[in-house]
Amino acid sequence: MTRVDNEICRRVEMMIRRKAFWSSEDLDEMSVEEMRQIIHELRWHQKVHDAELSAAQADLDAVLALAEANNQLAQQIEERKHVEQAIQVERNKFRSILDAMPDGVYIVNQQYDIEYTNPVVEKEFGQVNGRKCYAYLHDRTEICSWCKNQDVFSGKSVQWEWHSLKTGKIYHRIDTPLFNLSGTISKLQIFYDITNRKQAEKELREYEKQLRNLSYQLLTAQETERGRIARELHDELGGALAVLKLRIGFIEKNIQSDQTTIREECKQTRQYIDEIINNVHRLSRDLSPSILEDIGLTPALKWYIDNFARHYKVKVVADIEPIDNLIQKDHQIMVYRTVQEALTNIGKHAYANNIVIRVRIGGDSISFFVEDDGRGFDVETLSAIKSSEKGLGLASMKERAKMLGGSLHLSSEKGKGTRIGFSVPLTKGNIV
Ligand SMILES: Nc1ncnc2c1ncn2[C@@H]1O[C@H](COP(=O)(O)OP(=O)(O)OP(=O)(O)O)[C@@H](O)[C@H]1O
Ligand SMILES: [Mg+2]
Repeated sequence: MTRVDNEICRRVEMMIRRKAFWSSEDLDEMSVEEMRQIIHELRWHQKVHDAELSAAQADLDAVLALAEANNQLAQQIEERKHVEQAIQVERNKFRSILDAMPDGVYIVNQQYDIEYTNPVVEKEFGQVNGRKCYAYLHDRTEICSWCKNQDVFSGKSVQWEWHSLKTGKIYHRIDTPLFNLSGTISKLQIFYDITNRKQAEKELREYEKQLRNLSYQLLTAQETERGRIARELHDELGGALAVLKLRIGFIEKNIQSDQTTIREECKQTRQYIDEIINNVHRLSRDLSPSILEDIGLTPALKWYIDNFARHYKVKVVADIEPIDNLIQKDHQIMVYRTVQEALTNIGKHAYANNIVIRVRIGGDSISFFVEDDGRGFDVETLSAIKSSEKGLGLASMKERAKMLGGSLHLSSEKGKGTRIGFSVPLTKGNIV
């Protein structure tokens, strides 16, 4: 203390220590000037004390803030540990799932480094030994031209067929992005061997081709046979019936005029033979529509439809565009037969009052449509019946439509009639 003398200093310290101001002795001993100095000194002391106090308070606040921050950090670290543990558990689960998968699974980063392979991949392609994916899987020294990285790293999943030259097998492959915690993306690839399935599909396609070929030959043979029977019916039976009619006519003429009963019998027999001849001609035409060759597909269809309407006494609305010059000759019979079967089914099963038939030329195909308002049927029930136990009509219609390069669509419901449609593409095989 330099500003006051030692006596003042001593008194001030004493006062501070005993936390009390003047005693009665002090008042007796001290001058007013001394007291003023002591008060001044005490104020100065108080200021110093206050400043020290606020500094201590600030220090204390800083320490408390630090402790709080420390505490929060410790909590965060604890939470992060929990999250990391949870992530690790999930990762382990994910890895165990991938390890146990029967499909090949591997993960590649954007630098083509393999981050994970499951046992199936290793069994199929061996150990990775630090190789890049293109070297490991494809024995290449540079990235593959077919690599799906661009799509996958932009967030898309890609499915494709991979024919591996290394294993000689065909795989179905799914490449999908895997978003890492670090913010990077890896590529997860799953593949499974479809070589056998592909082979089976190829064989099936081959069988189908053979079957179609066989059906074609069968239907062609059927047409030839029908033609032969139709000709025999027409020429042999029709001819024999004509001779029989002539003979009965001859007998009729030579019967004595009084034998009226026999004469009448002959007349009726001749009329009956006429009926049989008409039926034989109809049968013969149905069996082999020579009319198709004589007058062409469109008139033949119209003729058949007219006859059908007359025979079954149903109302038919036919809207048929001329198509003769569009379909080649040997395919015309298939079209004719398909429409014929649709109508035969209506005649046999539908009990319809109205039929609508439309033949329209579209951009690149001709479409055929036959609809009746008959009793209809349940398509699903019919499909469930074994093919050996049901008719052949619908099946042969479908087969013919396929042979023509199109397909047949059928819809029917009990009590609500039946609709059948098929189209013939105007492609090289069909057109004239
Ligand atoms: N227009 C139709 N109206 C009602 N039922 C129909 C019609 N067309 C087909 N069906 C039903 O579908 C079944 C199968 O027809 P599909 O032509 O295949 O055989 P089918 O006529 O019985 O015999 P097939 O044609 O071999 O002489 C028929 O038995 C009939 O029950
Ligand atoms: Mg039928």
